[in-house]
Amino acid sequence: MNATDVLILGSGAAGLSAALRLAEAGHAVCVVSKGTLASGSTLWAQGGISAVLDEDDSVEAHVRDTLIAGAGLCDEAAVRFTVERGPECIAWLVDQGVVFTHADGELRGQRLHLTREGGHSHRRVVHAADATGHAVETTLASLAEAHPLITVRERSVAVDLIVDKAAKRVHGAYLYDRNSKAIEAVPAKAVIVATGGANQVYLYSSNPYGASGDGIAMAWRAGCRVSNMEFMQFHPTTLYHGDSRSFLISEALRGEGATLHVPNPDGSVGERFMPRFDERGELAPRDIVARAIDHEMKRLGVKHVWLDISHKPASFVREHFPSIHAHCLKLGLDITTQPIPVVPSAHFTCGGIVTDLDARTDITGLYATGECASTGLHGANRLASNSLLECLVFAEAAAADLIRALPTMPMPPPLKPWDESRVSDSDEDVVVSHNWLELRTFMWDYVGIVRTTKRLLRARHRVQLLKREIIEFYQHYRVGHHLIELRNLVTVAELIVDSALARQESRGLHYTLDFPATDAVASATVLTP
Ligand code: FAD
Ligand code: SIN
Repeated sequence: MNATDVLILGSGAAGLSAALRLAEAGHAVCVVSKGTLASGSTLWAQGGISAVLDEDDSVEAHVRDTLIAGAGLCDEAAVRFTVERGPECIAWLVDQGVVFTHADGELRGQRLHLTREGGHSHRRVVHAADATGHAVETTLASLAEAHPLITVRERSVAVDLIVDKAAKRVHGAYLYDRNSKAIEAVPAKAVIVATGGANQVYLYSSNPYGASGDGIAMAWRAGCRVSNMEFMQFHPTTLYHGDSRSFLISEALRGEGATLHVPNPDGSVGERFMPRFDERGELAPRDIVARAIDHEMKRLGVKHVWLDISHKPASFVREHFPSIHAHCLKLGLDITTQPIPVVPSAHFTCGGIVTDLDARTDITGLYATGECASTGLHGANRLASNSLLECLVFAEAAAADLIRALPTMPMPPPLKPWDESRVSDSDEDVVVSHNWLELRTFMWDYVGIVRTTKRLLRARHRVQLLKREIIEFYQHYRVGHHLIELRNLVTVAELIVDSALARQESRGLHYTLDFPATDAVASATVLTP
């Protein structure tokens, strides 16, 4: 393939908005997705995007709420940078044709309807009913597909970045084609990593299967610093149905009045418990609500708690939450009249590849945006609906920096092709699925909502064993999609466990029984390869 100006790994909100902004400025970009173009967590986002749009709201209030949720570990400059750019990013999305819910309940009115979520002192969440991500992702994907300067590569998995380690400069990436099974070296002047989070490292997750931390692992192998990986966010309310805990029940339900209850011994709806844990009740930040649910489930020995919105008019519930209502109804649960069984599940990776405010990493020409990046916005716990905002703000920042830098960026030198001479085919899938399940199970059991040093050390031992096995496997057999993901998941698991062991205090999403207090001075965990 000929060199492209910018190679963008990932086609969620971060990757697509960077692509569109660069293409609009006349640059040729190639967008890579390991699935279809409209994929990733963005497609599934429900609640919305936070931005200061109400006249009673203010940048100061949004900054303050983000800092409080982040439990003392946010970088205030990054928070302010993000919050100030929120309204412009929403306006950009509207210009691209994204249709949000309007204040009058119609989709064609003038004022955007703002919903509320945990940790927000004001209504400031812009949304498209309860399927915001679908509206954003499908709109941006169709614009990208139609743009003459954007090349799209679907079912193409980035295996590794191609980096001149001495010069600390990126030259492109190796891409595995899931159809032909071939690996190609793709040159580029610059690369943006926008591969999303790593939440499939846990047995139960709200994320789609591709959330395997590929970008974080690739950047780490390439020599980038990674920070705050111990802060994996568990969403308090995913639907508990049979063995499944993956369908999200948006925090916006609690924002609109839903309450959390313990089950009585006969299974009926019991005491509302959140006021016992936090004066903000169901609208406390996510780490607090998830920990409270975990506590009540363990205390009572129950498999779920109840989330109840049946006291609201049925028409209100159907209008605000049509997708959630329809999904539950298909499973025989009418949320307008019945309580919803919910449990916490792994949801969001607060840490990631260290970047500056231009989304630049430690390697020249390499940028990271979206959930794979650690910009300083989230600290020890992300405020609800700040993730899509971060994707949009930092994609714009990366694009703006590249638009300035590209005219003087050199073309990459000829790249070394992928070496396949030593490898043979294998029974990869059986080994990979077995190791994948083992990894996700012990991460859930030992590195979950409540941690101890003993359990973390046990997890570290298991990660090391798996890592050795996978590296050996990787060196001897032809790589495939699932092996690439498993190799990355093991790397990410190691980063999470090492970061968790390094933090000898409890803060935000990292809660350990061995160090239950919070240190007076907060500092980020930064790992250097
Ligand atoms: P993603 O949207 O996850 O996209 C990742 C992309 O990278 C995909 O295209 C994937 O194919 C590609 N990719 C990954 N690895 C590779 C590889 N090796 N090679 C090639 N391509 C690769 N946040 C909010 O702010 N508001 C919400 O309401 C909200 N609701 C959510 C609901 C759910 C169910 C989930 C799961 C998350 C939600 N979040 C929400 C979080 C938010 O959706 C994500 O953090 C955000 O969408 C991440 O966007 P992204 O562009 O970084 O990555
Ligand atoms: C939700 O709708 O509850 C998800 C919001 C988020 O993750 O920010």
